Amino acid sequence: SPRDNGVRARSLSTCLLASGVRNFSMAGSPGYATIFDFSIQNLRFAAPGIRKPEAVVLPTSRRGLQRAVLCARSASLAIRVRSGGHSYEGQSYTVSGGVLDGKAPFVVIDLMNLNKVRVHAASATAWAESGATLGEVYHAVAHSSPSNRSSLALTAASCSTIGLGGHISGGGFGPVSRKFMLAADNVLDALLVDAVGRVLDRRAMGEDVFWAIRGGGGGSWGVVYAWKLRLVPVPDTVTVFTPRREGSVDAMAGLVYRWQFVGPALPDEFYLSASLTIGSSSSSSQEDRDLRNVAFTGLVLGPKEMAMSVLNERFPELGLAEAEVSEMSWVESAARLAGLSSVDELTSRVSKTKYYGKNKSDYVQRPISRDSLAAILRYLSDGPPAGYVTMDPYGGAMARLSATATPFPHRAGNLYALQYGVTWDSDAGEASVSARIQWLRSLYAYMTPHVSSNPRAAYVNYIDIDLMGFDESLGPVRLASSVSHARATWGAAYFTVENFDRLVRAKTRIDPANVFYNAQSIPLH
Ligand code: FDA
Repeated sequence: SPRDNGVRARSLSTCLLASGVRNFSMAGSPGYATIFDFSIQNLRFAAPGIRKPEAVVLPTSRRGLQRAVLCARSASLAIRVRSGGHSYEGQSYTVSGGVLDGKAPFVVIDLMNLNKVRVHAASATAWAESGATLGEVYHAVAHSSPSNRSSLALTAASCSTIGLGGHISGGGFGPVSRKFMLAADNVLDALLVDAVGRVLDRRAMGEDVFWAIRGGGGGSWGVVYAWKLRLVPVPDTVTVFTPRREGSVDAMAGLVYRWQFVGPALPDEFYLSASLTIGSSSSSSQEDRDLRNVAFTGLVLGPKEMAMSVLNERFPELGLAEAEVSEMSWVESAARLAGLSSVDELTSRVSKTKYYGKNKSDYVQRPISRDSLAAILRYLSDGPPAGYVTMDPYGGAMARLSATATPFPHRAGNLYALQYGVTWDSDAGEASVSARIQWLRSLYAYMTPHVSSNPRAAYVNYIDIDLMGFDESLGPVRLASSVSHARATWGAAYFTVENFDRLVRAKTRIDPANVFYNAQSIPLH
């Protein structure tokens, strides 16, 4: 009841103050909404009808973090841990989805003040607190490289406001992953605050738990306070290009058809993704409506001569022109691919890409036929104007690690990952939102014959509550997250059954009271 929640909130506040933790904001207090909203990336989960936390605690030290976990527990509040707040389903700051959908009083432990990055250039390693954003880490790494040039880098995503905590917990794919794999594949050690407030390093947590935290998804194991990362060597000059091509459905289907053979097979130094966006479907002219866009994003670890010669030989259909490619340092490429205008903007935590939306993912293991691609392009343009499909090439080093080396199993045999998305505006009504989400689910159903099966795979960092299944009367099923239900649905999809079962064993060892849970956290035995 509200009275019980008030008692819990007071108990939390008393405990925090007694422990010397002063940086927190209670619901209803001035500044609470600003602090709570700051890192919400998907504004769909900021809606007034969605349950809010009793408090947001922002620890400023490791000890403060330990205290926050203990005080939340002693006040009988559920815990949500937030680093960058980019969870597609708001799992770091809501109790939406899953068994306790909206019911549990909870506290958000927000790590935004735990964002220090210490680079040790001589050993090409860094210790980074989990609340650092990718942009903050990229900036620190580049500015600590020996020659003050970008000879060291971190392999992770392009979006600079993603938090290190959630990103590495789920894998972390980005433009240099075909050369250096995922962020999680480059973790050498970590400090985990567990449910009883201990700080465990790799040795103390044991190899099973250390395996689990590198790709088994955030929010299941404890709070990762910091990661020790292997930094990777990059040349002083890299090449970036973002050509956009427009043409008839058949021409664009032909281009994407060819890309499927090229993108995943390029040398490891090359990244070339393709994004299908909706063209001019709102136009009244038939000619306009028949035009489709394909936006490519390219990064090559090398000079532009290398980029041009390889791409023009292997993918002449792209027609890459010299005017479309630019040379720069790796950190400049990180800023450019994040859509920023300067390298210094990498340190800004203010997200310019907040959105209302829903995403889903798939993996493609056999090239999709040209006719099917044309049909997909038509489906896209018959849909809402803000739908898209992004194709991220795998292969290279991604395919050389075994599917069980980390919980992330999508290695050899996967040509590319698909991400589907739909967005809407702040003033979209309920009917329009549900029509868009329904459109996305239909697109996903439509894609069934073209993507992986048994299990139909998905990427845990593109968390998708739909994978829990549907009950017509309830919406996304609120079945107890039993091991068997989770294994048969999202568990197999994100991790494969073998990896999922190992994750369940690790979970049972590190968090036997299931203190750290969310709609799709790893269940206990
Ligand atoms: P957030 O704070 O929301 O946390 C996500 C989950 O991890 C939650 O369950 C949370 O409780 C848990 N968690 C957070 N910090 C933790 C900690 N310190 N210890 C334990 N658990 C913790 N991914 C990708 O691989 N490649 C890409 O290119 C992109 N691109 C991209 C663009 C945009 C615009 C968005 C919104 C997202 C992506 N992603 C992505 C997905 C992204 O990697 C994923 O959402 C991450 O989980 C986000 O991490 P945050 O810390 O920002 O999220």
